[in-house]
Amino acid sequence: MERVSRIAALRERLAGHRQVAFVPTMGNLHEGHLALVRLAANHGRPVVVSIFVNPLQFGPREDFASYPRTLEEDCEKLRELDVDFVFAPDTEEMYPVSQTFVVEPPRLGQILEGEFRPGFFRGVATVVLKLFNIVQPRWAVFGKKDYQQLLVVREMVRQFNLPIEIVAGETVRAPDGLALSSRNGYLSEAERAEAPRLYATLREIAQAIEAGTQDFRALEQRARDRLDKAGWQVDYVAVQQRPSLEPAQPGDRELVALAAARLGRTRLIDNLEITVPA
Ligand code: PAF
Repeated sequence: MERVSRIAALRERLAGHRQVAFVPTMGNLHEGHLALVRLAANHGRPVVVSIFVNPLQFGPREDFASYPRTLEEDCEKLRELDVDFVFAPDTEEMYPVSQTFVVEPPRLGQILEGEFRPGFFRGVATVVLKLFNIVQPRWAVFGKKDYQQLLVVREMVRQFNLPIEIVAGETVRAPDGLALSSRNGYLSEAERAEAPRLYATLREIAQAIEAGTQDFRALEQRARDRLDKAGWQVDYVAVQQRPSLEPAQPGDRELVALAAARLGRTRLIDNLEITVPA
């Protein structure tokens, strides 16, 4: 495994490779990321993992400065996984001049996370497009944990005719159901014990829908109330259509329930795909 920090050097190493499998990350790797890397390795070679904490996708009051940066430990983990290249540029390398050309996502990136984190998907789409141009992968792997991000990137690839297949990796969970996330490390012991309620709430929604409930707005409200009562500050609980992410209507069958809520200072997101039985 080789660690590369310069764009020109990575391009040189990847020249002529047309089967590159790529996993973009912001580091602080956990088992969820490692599953994405294994998935990438099943698709192509060489396998490239990028580690870059992208300032463009953090709001002014978000955790860019304190986001965990653990490059040495991350490289140790990737070395065990048969990764060929770790691309770990610094901010100057990625943004040598102010990034005034940006990718402005459509409505798909302005609702849900986009509403509560204005500019987030602009920052994600812009850095992902830059990374795609640098790495030129044939496959790129994104986790379903960041469900809306996965759909925004897929749509960007489609609308810009990028010759890249977006591969979706399943969410990896702790035994109590909590989705693995780099931000779980911010949770206190008491918050960590409470955190699985987010997924449990989504499962309750799924069970009600699978049992025939079609009043999606009432399910959302009940879930919100349950989280409120347990001390969460809820941004949204939403039952949406797949893949448009528009609000689900009675009769829709391909759904996803998504939630974002804060426990203390930690904001957690999660989701669950639901297929209404025929
Ligand atoms: O999901 C992430 O870690 C980031 O949003 C990504 C895709 C690496 C872009 O910075």
